[in-house]
Amino acid sequence: MAMNALTLLKQDHNNVDQLFSRFEQSDDPIEKRQIVDKVTEHLSVHAVIEEEFVYPAARKAIEEATGLVLEALEEHHLVKVTLWELEKMAPTDERFDAKMTVLIESVRHHVEEEENELFPQIREAMTQEELDELGTTLENAKLTAPTRPHPLAPDTPPLNMIVGLPVAVLDAVITTGKEALGKVLNRR
Ligand SMILES: [Fe+2]
Ligand SMILES: [Fe+2]
Repeated sequence: MAMNALTLLKQDHNNVDQLFSRFEQSDDPIEKRQIVDKVTEHLSVHAVIEEEFVYPAARKAIEEATGLVLEALEEHHLVKVTLWELEKMAPTDERFDAKMTVLIESVRHHVEEEENELFPQIREAMTQEELDELGTTLENAKLTAPTRPHPLAPDTPPLNMIVGLPVAVLDAVITTGKEALGKVLNRR
């Protein structure tokens, strides 16, 4: 059964927020590293599917949404830059926690704007059928989306789709080795 696109996106948001809470409660650098890696994977996929399908659909359906969407793209960009920095940083680095704390704050702000401003507009402008169809598109896109941040890659269609899959396969090799690679190859 198809899932409403907005329900799917909110589930993503909730999953990431649970990881944020776990990070905030942890004082073990090894655990924190693992949590940041999970956050990176979730947010990289989530950002790309929004950029590829949700934001363009919003701009198409709602003329006044353009400003919000352009800001959202800039917020995604800053999140990707921070995740990219965290990827290279040891969890014992004195900047690690501070960087993650600022990332958490900005993602929570971004999510709040999506859920309170953008999503209600989308819900009004699109039919139930269109939202379900978009949900199916998102579910499929998740299977091949990049799992690492690429702050310098194009973030608007059609260019982001062209680089999508090869990048996702490479990501899987770099991040977690065989386990993730198996996942990417299986999910195709
Ligand atoms: Fe977003
Ligand atoms: Fe989002």
